[in-house]
Amino acid sequence: MATFPEYIAQNEERDGVRFSWNVWPSSRLEATRMVVPVAALFTPLRERTDLPPIQYEPVLCSRATCRAVLNPLCQVDYRAKLWACNFCYQRNQFPPSYAGISEVNQPAELLPQFSTIEYVVQRGPQMPLVFLYVVDTCMEDEDLQALKESLQMSLSLLPPTALVGLITFGRMVQVHELGCEGISKSYVFRGTKDLNAKQLQEMLGLTKPAAAQGRGPQAAPQPLSNRFLQPVQKIDMNLTDLLGELQRDPWPVTQGKRPLRSLGVAMSIAVGLLECTFPNTGARIMTFIGGPATQGPGMVVGDELKTPIRSWHDIEKDNAKFMKKATKHYESLAIRASTNGHIIDIYACALDQTGLLEMKCCSNHTGGYMVMADSFNTSLFKQTFQRVFTKDVQGSFKMAFAATLEVKKIRSRLCVSFNICEIGTGGTCQWKICGLDPATTLALYFEVVNQHNAPIPQGGRGAIQFVTQYQHSSGQRRIRVTTTARNWADAQTQIQSIAASFDQEAAAILMARLAVYRAETEEGPDVLRWLDRQLIRLCQKFGDYHKDDPNSFRFSETFSLYPQFMFHLRRSPFLQVFNNSPDESSYYRHQFNRQDLTQALIMIQPVLYAYSFNGPPEPVLLDSSSILPDRILLMDTFFQILIYHGETVAQWRKAGYQDMAEYENFRHLLQAPVDDAQELLHTRFPMPRYIDTEHGGSQARFLLSKVNPSQTHNNMYAWGQESGAPILTDDVSLQVFMDHLKKLAVSSAA
Ligand SMILES: *[C@@H]1O[C@H](CO)[C@@H](O)[C@H](O)[C@H]1NC(C)=O
Ligand SMILES: *[C@@H]1O[C@H](CO)[C@@H](O)[C@H](O)[C@H]1NC(C)=O
Ligand SMILES: *[C@@H]1O[C@H](CO)[C@@H](O)[C@H](O)[C@H]1NC(C)=O
Ligand SMILES: [Zn+2]
Repeated sequence: MATFPEYIAQNEERDGVRFSWNVWPSSRLEATRMVVPVAALFTPLRERTDLPPIQYEPVLCSRATCRAVLNPLCQVDYRAKLWACNFCYQRNQFPPSYAGISEVNQPAELLPQFSTIEYVVQRGPQMPLVFLYVVDTCMEDEDLQALKESLQMSLSLLPPTALVGLITFGRMVQVHELGCEGISKSYVFRGTKDLNAKQLQEMLGLTKPAAAQGRGPQAAPQPLSNRFLQPVQKIDMNLTDLLGELQRDPWPVTQGKRPLRSLGVAMSIAVGLLECTFPNTGARIMTFIGGPATQGPGMVVGDELKTPIRSWHDIEKDNAKFMKKATKHYESLAIRASTNGHIIDIYACALDQTGLLEMKCCSNHTGGYMVMADSFNTSLFKQTFQRVFTKDVQGSFKMAFAATLEVKKIRSRLCVSFNICEIGTGGTCQWKICGLDPATTLALYFEVVNQHNAPIPQGGRGAIQFVTQYQHSSGQRRIRVTTTARNWADAQTQIQSIAASFDQEAAAILMARLAVYRAETEEGPDVLRWLDRQLIRLCQKFGDYHKDDPNSFRFSETFSLYPQFMFHLRRSPFLQVFNNSPDESSYYRHQFNRQDLTQALIMIQPVLYAYSFNGPPEPVLLDSSSILPDRILLMDTFFQILIYHGETVAQWRKAGYQDMAEYENFRHLLQAPVDDAQELLHTRFPMPRYIDTEHGGSQARFLLSKVNPSQTHNNMYAWGQESGAPILTDDVSLQVFMDHLKKLAVSSAA
């Protein structure tokens, strides 16, 4: 039998699923006593080169309220050609095309190795892909020039049949008509007044296809070809020219003022245009902004330069004048876009904040990208943007469109809650995800609803089915189905097997996502307190100790790394906001909530490698004791790749030893981390920031703020005991943290 770590790795590899617990407590009461909820990290489109899509459609359970997909866990009666649904127990007839099945002639979806399988929907028309560029023109020439080049480059990466459109904005918003013989024509809108879909439709002269009326949302839309969205192959030369001719917003900006930037209306028009013309079709609104919205709906700051944009302190003092109204504006856009399956990406490139805090819901609710850089003329922006268009070996985009996720489970045993995108839940377990890529990872939290005295069901396994429907970039509609099951166990008699099934990495990320969610909706310090309380309870439940004897505390290997993850999480930018601007916090949290487990772990607990003459590069503890004079360190925080030269190495480098023939090995030592950094810079999305620093360098603070302060004055601080609730004072060392954790866990008072 495989060990749990092997089992976990296998399941992740095959199904893209990691559960916090791999054996489930069989009653609601016991589940709440596990402290960490039964939850899953799920990567719907995890890359599988060994998973060619199947050219037929899934067989569904005939019960109207179930509609689960035939899967390897179903019982099959080959003689009677019947299958029993493993979610509702309905017995179903196989369709006529399955007449030939037998034990030795099984369709792929019944084979255990196809617990994850992808179907190509055969019905319905091929759907176009739509890319709508929304471009800010209030920016410096250098930025605008760089942006124009990136946009032109992107046209060459689009499939020839993709439809493209262009909206530009400054003080006014312009919707460009494409393909009008030679002359470039555009419709101009004021940036101060919002327009609803109907007004927009009239002003742009768009007519809804009559056939669309009275159809269900599932019906294929009749694409409305229009002058604003045209196939790339038809207009790419002209659009390239049009982009090349884009000028800075011509309206004069007086001294001491910000440019008037009508971002809120521009985005609203983009959402409305697609809503009228391509509902429920894969579409990306790609928004490029060089500064904050300063007028109209969605404005986040006034145009007086002397009034700065809101900070965390302003927000805390309820002094962020535009925040609530702007957030509401962007939320309503996010909901409209998501309802139609459309994605909103935000590329915010400016030195100051642009309003990501207010706009984050647009990317969040629609599976869009959020990218933040100092300027459009940086490789961070240029390379990241280019990577959006990455293709697989078949030449299709890796990004997927108009996705939905449905979760099937046994109704009476499990109930699902989902804190990512709660739009359109309406009591069912179905969500609009819109944009997906192979890394997108969702967190699902399950509630065991079974009563305490009810027996464990026959077979003793709980099954879950994830049904992800999406538009593939080839235009096909696809359905990926993952069916997975875990054993139930009685927590009173089998607590050992539940404990042994704990996946501490997945659990850390799942708890971290809950904490981030709480931090965004509640007060900051309360979140830390909540996190501490959960950790202490987990130690009490699963640790081995004698009461009131901290030295006796032991955690089994399955739990041993978990407290350390929590230690780093407490200090991370996901929970500590005051060192960052509100936009930065929103950006970090957005990435944290999307990335897969490996990347999310790096974000919580950065990885550190040491390079020295004493041997090959090696991973070292994220601890101040790892910083030595004769070492070079490479730190990966996901957002930053930092190379730090120890004091001696830095001196040698200054003296130029690397340029002398006799110190060739020193040159190699300097080069090794640079090469490793390049590898990360070339593969990660979004591209990280690259920092090269040394002992005493100003940027060394990025390293110092991440390492465990084992050798600093911070050890003098200790945990406080306030109003009975255990809390930690900030920035203690890991050692102090662990000592106090043990003390609180074993305390009979706690
Ligand atoms: C962009 O930056 C590069 C290097 O920093 C510079 O050489 C180039 O001139 C800049 N581009 C524009 C359009 O200013
Ligand atoms: C593209 O531009 C050229 C020259 O400006 C013009 O003659 C041609 O009609 C345009 N094509 C389309 C499809 O608009
Ligand atoms: C999206 O928003 C919801 C609710 O506001 C929040 O719970 C969730 O963490 C956010 N997700 C992402 C991916 O930012
Ligand atoms: Zn069923």
